[in-house]
Amino acid sequence: MSDQLTPESIAALLEQAVAALTAAESLADLDHQASAIRAKDSALMAARRSLGTLDDIDARKAAGALLNDAMTTVTEVVEARRAVLEVSERATQLEADRLDLTEVVVGDVSLPLGRGHAHLVTQTRASLEAVFVAMGFTVEEGPEVETDWYNFEALNLPPGHPARDMYDTMYLDIAQPETVLLRTHTSPMQIHLLERAVADGTLPVHAAMAGRCYRLDTPDARHLPVFHQIEGLVIDRGITFADLAGVIETFTAAYFGPDIHSRLRPAYFPFTEPSAEFEITCTICRGEGCRTCSRTGWIELGGCGMVDPAVFAAVGIDPAEWSGFAFGFGIDRCAQMRHQIADMRSLIENDLRFMRQF
Ligand code: PHE
Repeated sequence: MSDQLTPESIAALLEQAVAALTAAESLADLDHQASAIRAKDSALMAARRSLGTLDDIDARKAAGALLNDAMTTVTEVVEARRAVLEVSERATQLEADRLDLTEVVVGDVSLPLGRGHAHLVTQTRASLEAVFVAMGFTVEEGPEVETDWYNFEALNLPPGHPARDMYDTMYLDIAQPETVLLRTHTSPMQIHLLERAVADGTLPVHAAMAGRCYRLDTPDARHLPVFHQIEGLVIDRGITFADLAGVIETFTAAYFGPDIHSRLRPAYFPFTEPSAEFEITCTICRGEGCRTCSRTGWIELGGCGMVDPAVFAAVGIDPAEWSGFAFGFGIDRCAQMRHQIADMRSLIENDLRFMRQF
C-alpha cells in the first residue's frame, strides 16, 4: 500500500496545502497557490492518482473519501482567504484613491483649476445697480415666490383682467389653486416697498430692485423662462413724466455708452398711466437698421410709466400729495445688447468657452 494514502499522510498533505493558502498575502498569490494545489503534479493530485495502487477495496474507498474531503476543504479555505484578501485589497485601493482636499496647489493655478468669476448676468446686474446708485437710488430685493395680490391684484390686475394674459404664469401647488406663484416680473416689489414706506412713514422712495422672474415661455434667441429684471420706482412730490424720460435716457447713456439713446413709445400697463415701452438704439447696427432690430434701428428693453392711482389706492398713498414713475426691464436683454450675444440661451448653457469671454 502506498504510504501516501494513509489517513495521516493525507491529513499532512492537506495541512501543507492549507498552510500555503493561509500564507497567501494577495489575491494573485492566492490564485497562484490554489492552482499549484490543483495542478496535475501536486502532492494531493499525485496521491489521488495512486488510489488505484491500493488493493484493499475498503482502504481505497476510505482514502478516496478522505482525498475528496481534502479537496473540498481546499476550496473552502481558498474562498475564505479570498474574502479576507478582497476586503483588505479594497481598503488599500480606497486609501490610495483618497483625494486630499486640503492639499495646497503651489505654482501656476490658472490651469486646469482656474479661478472662476461672476456669471455675465450677475456682472450685468451689479453694473446696472451701480448706475442707479449713482443716480441716488437705493437697492432693494424681494421674494421670487409671490401671492396673487402682489404680482397682480395690487398692481391693478384683478382676477380675470385681460392683461393677465401678457404673463404666462407659473403657479405653485400650495394653498388655494392659482394663489401662490413665481413672480412674472419685479413689479410686485413696488407694492412691498410702498407698503413698507407707508407703514414706516419713509416716503419718498427712490429704489432699484433686481431679481429673477419666471414665465412659462419656450426658450428662444430672445426669451428665457427664467430671466432677470430690474425695476425702478420713484415716488416723491411733484414727479412728472419728464423725470421718467430723463432717468431712462441718463441710464441708457451711462450703461450702453454715449451713442446709444432711448425713446418711449405709447404702451399699456395696468399699473402705470400713461404707460410707455422703452426702446434703445440697436447696439448691433447702431441705429442703421438690421435683422436683430427688424430694420427699425431700435430694440425694446422694457416698460415704464407714471404710477397708476389704483396702485396708490392699493397701498394707501394719497395721490394728491405724491406722484411717481416706475420702470422695469430685462437684465439678460441688457447683457445681450451690450455684448452682442446672438442667442440668449448661451447665458444658461454653462459652456465655459462662452462664459470665459466676460
Ligand atoms: N412689469 C412690466 C413687465 O414686466 C414692466 C413695467 C414695469 C412696466 C414698471 C411699467 C412699469 O412687463
